[in-house]
Amino acid sequence: MADTTKTATLTIDGQNYELPMHSPTAGPDVIDIRKLYAQAGVFTYDPGFTSTASTDSTITFIDGGKGELLHRGYPIDQLAAKSHYLEVCYLLLYGELPTAAKLEDFEARVTNHTMLHEQMMNFFRGFRRDAHPMAIMVGVVGAMSAFYHDSTDINDPWQREVASIRLIAKMPTIAAMAYKYHIGQPFVYPRNNLDYASNFLNMCFSVPAEDYQPSPILARAMDRIFTLHADHEQNASTSTVRLASSSGANPFACIAAGIACLWGPAHGGANQACLEMLREIGTVDRIPEFIARAKDKDDPFRLMGFGHRVYKNFDPRATVMKESADEVLDLLGVENNPVLQVAKELEKAALADPYFAEKKLFPNVDFYSGIILEAMGFPTSMFTPIFALSRTVGWISQWKEQLSDPQLKIGRPRQLYLGSTPRDYIDIENR
Ligand code: SDX
Repeated sequence: MADTTKTATLTIDGQNYELPMHSPTAGPDVIDIRKLYAQAGVFTYDPGFTSTASTDSTITFIDGGKGELLHRGYPIDQLAAKSHYLEVCYLLLYGELPTAAKLEDFEARVTNHTMLHEQMMNFFRGFRRDAHPMAIMVGVVGAMSAFYHDSTDINDPWQREVASIRLIAKMPTIAAMAYKYHIGQPFVYPRNNLDYASNFLNMCFSVPAEDYQPSPILARAMDRIFTLHADHEQNASTSTVRLASSSGANPFACIAAGIACLWGPAHGGANQACLEMLREIGTVDRIPEFIARAKDKDDPFRLMGFGHRVYKNFDPRATVMKESADEVLDLLGVENNPVLQVAKELEKAALADPYFAEKKLFPNVDFYSGIILEAMGFPTSMFTPIFALSRTVGWISQWKEQLSDPQLKIGRPRQLYLGSTPRDYIDIENR
């Protein structure tokens, strides 16, 4: 940990407490409160963790003010333009960009783990056809701990490595199978002669009745969506994975917990909610009505795909995603897509509105991703499973980092208790 001689002085009831501080390589200093309760008998209070660093990490850094996102120090816009998802997976997992030989070996290992245990198909058949694909992914990924016993021992570095590769390799297969099951089409096996993104498109869109050739431009856009969603510091689902892992739970259980948390519309579910919102708005002339609702304190409605806990300037991923949206829609000849027109006018109207400027609300990663995915032919219910597929490497990288921390303790927050003080039981006849 980058240390500093700086300290923070806390005064409570005239008593001073010196708290050590730590300086990062980037971002704000932190006050180390680990001994605060033992020394001062008080807790800190931070629901939602708006001012709390839950861990130290070397994987991803976000500067919310500058709209900067770094993966192991490399800016996301450079990675999106020059790299590709599996290379970014290697970078996140091992900390450095791979040599050509190391990348080839890593890609081969992932490719050779893309098939799912054949008996797991029975899991899919237990769901209703109209089950949300995220429900299926939570169930099937959690069930992987019942099929891959040789990679569940978190104390064995080799098993941790195998579980990491298996999850990165199998998530596209599981997501595609959830989609095929949902639409009543036969499962499509992965193909080792296709790259990661093309393989996913093939598993989703090919049918036995005819040949399917994934478009290289769509595959590139798909790969870019995977890259832009790969990791994002200690967001809600990553924090869920870390908390689950802190109890010693196996990797598949931890990732299933992350998928469950990502599902929420305030987090990864926002891409689906955003498309549904754009469709509800329907036409450009209804935008003012929805902007007014988003500003109305008495209306719970929020503009899905807008705002972010950390970015208070712009989400660099949204900038790249917007370029991809234009490319894909031009290719598919749907640049006049009414949903895209509403999206572009909504963005303009929101960014011109003082309310959004003051609260620093602007499009986030989920605003344009849904438009691209819809143009590619995915139903909105598949948007968050694709986010989960992409974020698996981030969850796994953070999970591995936490397990390598010699100071790892089980996560166990305290609380500000406002309930009843001790009172005696009252027999029912006296109530
Ligand atoms: C992701 O953490 C991550 O890194 C997440 C993520 C990742 O890669 O893992 O980036 C992915 O989850 C992106 C965010 C996707 N969610 C949405 O698009 C849903 C809509 N956005 C909001 O729910 C909200 O902006 C959050 C949840 C994203 C952020 O919430 P915060 O930081 O807790 O902010 P807040 O709820 O305290 O809002 C601050 C103010 C409030 O007004 P006041 O109470 O101060 O008067 O801004 C308002 C809010 O009412 N506000 C919005 C708004 N978002 C916040 N008003 C209208 N529309 C919105 N979208």
